[in-house]
This record gives sequence, C-alpha cells and structure tokens, in this order.
Amino acid sequence: MSTEIQGTETNGSDAFVFLGATGDLAYKQIFPALQRLVSDGRLKVPIVGVAKPDWSDDELVARAHNSLTDHGSIDDAAFHRLANLMSYVGGDYRDSATFAKLDKALGNARAPLYYLAIPPDLFPVVIKGLAGVHRTRGARVIVEKPFGRDLQSSRALNRTLLDHFPESAIFRIDHYLGKEAVQNLIFFRFANSFLEPVWNREFLENVQITMAEEFGVAGRGGFYDGVGAIRDVVQNHLLQTMAFLMMDAPASQEIDAIRNESVRIIRAIQPLTPEDVARGQFRGYRSEAGVASDSNVETFAAVRLRINTWRWAGLPIYIRTGKRLPLTTTEIVVRFKRPPLDVFPDWKASELNSLRFRLSPTSGFP
Ligand code: BG6
Repeated sequence: MSTEIQGTETNGSDAFVFLGATGDLAYKQIFPALQRLVSDGRLKVPIVGVAKPDWSDDELVARAHNSLTDHGSIDDAAFHRLANLMSYVGGDYRDSATFAKLDKALGNARAPLYYLAIPPDLFPVVIKGLAGVHRTRGARVIVEKPFGRDLQSSRALNRTLLDHFPESAIFRIDHYLGKEAVQNLIFFRFANSFLEPVWNREFLENVQITMAEEFGVAGRGGFYDGVGAIRDVVQNHLLQTMAFLMMDAPASQEIDAIRNESVRIIRAIQPLTPEDVARGQFRGYRSEAGVASDSNVETFAAVRLRINTWRWAGLPIYIRTGKRLPLTTTEIVVRFKRPPLDVFPDWKASELNSLRFRLSPTSGFP
C-alpha cells in the first residue's frame, strides 16, 4: 500500500474500509498487514470490515485474532489497539441497506480508503453502492486483480471507477510490484552498466519466466474458477516481471518514469496467436471445493511472447506457470547465444551461459 494511513492532517485517509472482511485475502494478508501498520504507528484511523455474514464487531476481532495466530503472530499491544479501531458491517453488496449501514459506521470520515478484497464481478456493484450513499467523494479505492475479464470489461470497470473517483484516487494493485526481488530487477539492471551492451536480440537466445507451484488452489476454488492461471498471475505478476526485465532505462527512479517504461514494453508485445499459448488443468482440479465439475479453467499456462522493438524483435520470451507442479519456484532464466566454441562439452548447455534470477524461495526439487 503506497498511501500512509494516518489522518487528514497529512492528506491521508481518515478511515480504512475493507470489503471482503470474512474472506481468504483478509485472513491471510490484510489482518497481518493491519497489525503491522498499527504496530509501526502508521494506522490510527477507524477500520471498518464489510462482508455478507451477519457478524458482530467482536466476531471480526476474533477472526483477526485467528488470522494472526495462523499467519504471523499476535503483538499484544498492537493487537489491542487494532481491536479498538475495528468495527464490522454485515450485508449483501447488492442491497443498498448495507451501504446505508456503512455510511453510518463511517460517521464524520471525509476521506475513507476502500480496499476491495472481493471477487472481481462485485467491483462495479460495490462502487455503485458507495456512490449511492455519496461516499466516493474525497475517498480512495484499492482494486485487486483481475481488473475485468477482458479488454471490454476492464474498460467498463475503468469507466465505472473514473465516474466516481479521480485517477489519482484509484490504486490498481499487484503485490508483485511490492516484492523486493522483483524491484531488484530494476536495481540490478539500471544501477550497473555492464549489462546494457549485451541486453538485446543480438546476444540473447531467449528469456524464460517461470512461476511453478507445488500446491493447488489451496481452498480458493471459488475465486480461482472464475479466473484461471492467465488472469490470476500471467497478465499481472508475470507480465510485470517481464516488463521490468525487458524495459528501457527509466529517466529516474520516480514511479511514473518506471511505469511509463513498463507500459511502453507491454504495448510493444506482438499480438498472440493460438500457437503461442498452451493451457492445461491438473488432475483432480474439478473435485476441488468451489470448482465447477465441468470447469474448463486453466491451472497451467505457457505463453510465448515477442516484443516488437529494435532491441527485442524476434527474441522469444517464454512465460510458464502452473499449480500442482513438481516444485515451487519463481525464477527467470536469461539464456545467451551459444559461444562460438564448446570449451566445456561435458556440461549440459542449459547449465551454462545464462543468468538466473530467483524471485521466491524454491522448494521441492525432485
Ligand atoms: C497470487 C495468486 O496473486 O499470487 C496465487 O492469486 C499465487 O494463485 C500467488 O499463488 C503467488 O504469489 P507469491 O507472493 O506467493 O509468490
């Protein structure tokens, strides 16, 4: 989260509302993040959890307690302060009465921050619900991926957001942007000059970006079955990683300069043909809770990209990801063209002549 949440005096937000408070993302990530922010003294505003079940405030606090026990640890002092900031609003997102209750819970807040930790088809419903009680003015909104299902629906979602919030108040987040190992790609490339002369189609053979996971959908079948591997991780996490790896140098480390260069490279991707994409599904996926018994959703995807710029034209970039694979690793391999002479013929070619970036801890090598 790039905004410090500490009150209107610093132009920060004066309430934090997270919709999807009883869900998986809140359980695994949001409660631990909130305790951390409270503990660092950076979160002092009221926190309102919203979701469908008819819970009390105490039940939300109990859920936060369980979440922190399972995914972190309880910091007694910080948790006490967090519990005092929290309240709960229950109700269906399609029911205007839910937003009337939220309106009441927000009291005098003038600049709430809304975090939409909910299934993507509910984003427009919630935004309209907030607008219905005049609670979008002065507010900010954080949207999780996937941002629409396709170009048409993402444009429609964008229009809905922009009807109610200025661009500067909309945060389309991707947690890969916050990963140190991903940010280090930019540092490694642009803090050094030795790479630049060889970082082009003349010297590289191919680039391979792999996100392999041993685990399956891990209880998130309901979410995953509406999304699939391409919308879950390829179009966001892995394209973002590709952009940092292949983009030209930004003029500075300013976020807009970096964003502009990554957009330029993503725009230069040659449109895919069916031959560029392979999709698969792991055995047993259709028996997972929340997954349709005839689901055609992919849990594996392999994509071959090409970038139409002078630097990269013709170079294949392979992106692969899947769940229930033999090992867990997120890594990039940049393979250079073969040397003119095989001085070490006993070595496998795949073990030589490449740069390997590990983006997450690796486990389960067979
Ligand atoms: C999430 C996806 O955004 O990223 C998950 O929804 C995936 O399916 C996860 O497992 C991987 O991210 P990380 O940070 O755990 O490597």
